[in-house]
Amino acid sequence: MNDDATHYLITFFEPLEFLAPADPAATERALANIPLDASSCIVDVGCGTGRQTLQLLAETPAQVIASDLESSLLVELVQRAASTGAGNRLRTLTADMLALPVNEGSIDAVYAEGSIYCVGIERALKAWYPLLKPGGYVCFSDAGFTTPNPPKEAVAFWQAEYPDMGTPESAKHIALAAGYNIIDEYWMVQSAWDNYYEPYAERLASLKPQWQENPVAMDVLASLEHELAMYRAYGDSYGYYFLVLQKAA
Ligand SMILES: C[S@@+](CC[C@H](N)C(=O)[O-])C[C@H]1O[C@@H](n2cnc3c(N)ncnc32)[C@H](O)[C@@H]1O
Repeated sequence: MNDDATHYLITFFEPLEFLAPADPAATERALANIPLDASSCIVDVGCGTGRQTLQLLAETPAQVIASDLESSLLVELVQRAASTGAGNRLRTLTADMLALPVNEGSIDAVYAEGSIYCVGIERALKAWYPLLKPGGYVCFSDAGFTTPNPPKEAVAFWQAEYPDMGTPESAKHIALAAGYNIIDEYWMVQSAWDNYYEPYAERLASLKPQWQENPVAMDVLASLEHELAMYRAYGDSYGYYFLVLQKAA
């Protein structure tokens, strides 16, 4: 994607709360697996507009580092965290999640909602392993097929968008091979998809007339519209799951 297209993609998502299918109850369940205190450090990678960052701050006593490649997203997150009174526990980092500038063995948990697909599960788990304390945790959510024989249209779509997309089973194999134990696993409920796609559909409808004279912006909207159409047609063959992993001793 060129810089112009990236700009319109960020503009599309910037005001949205959910940048991926997500459900606060699923976030809560992931966090319930991790013992955290005020000295603990969680790195929220690919934090986006920070819905889950604010939940991490609200539901844990930990220090949170919110990290994303897009620095513009982090500026507003700092303000939102400050308005909740938890801003003193938040640091931000503009960084690639595969090259986090943090010390080895210093992190209690890496948290990746809806972002691990950007770099791939295997590369991410390998990159984070040395950064975690012994017994440290990784929580991530990702898309996966829910059926062994998904429709060919869904397979073709995901092959183009996310060639490494697998299933919770394939993700668990990767995690075990990378030196993690599986602590928890679950599928998100339907409302996680509604949280994502309902405001997304409204944003598509409102931006189309505004951007109609701009071919680059309209290409971005066409691709987002295609994703939504695929979900409406074939969304029952894929879902969004959570895995909670612990670095093996
Ligand atoms: C689909 S959004 C999910 C955002 C957020 N976690 C949520 O669920 O609302 C993925 C985010 O990952 C960020 N991202 C993509 N590649 C990245 C990378 N290599 N390192 C860090 N962040 C990245 C994007 O800028 C985007 O904000």
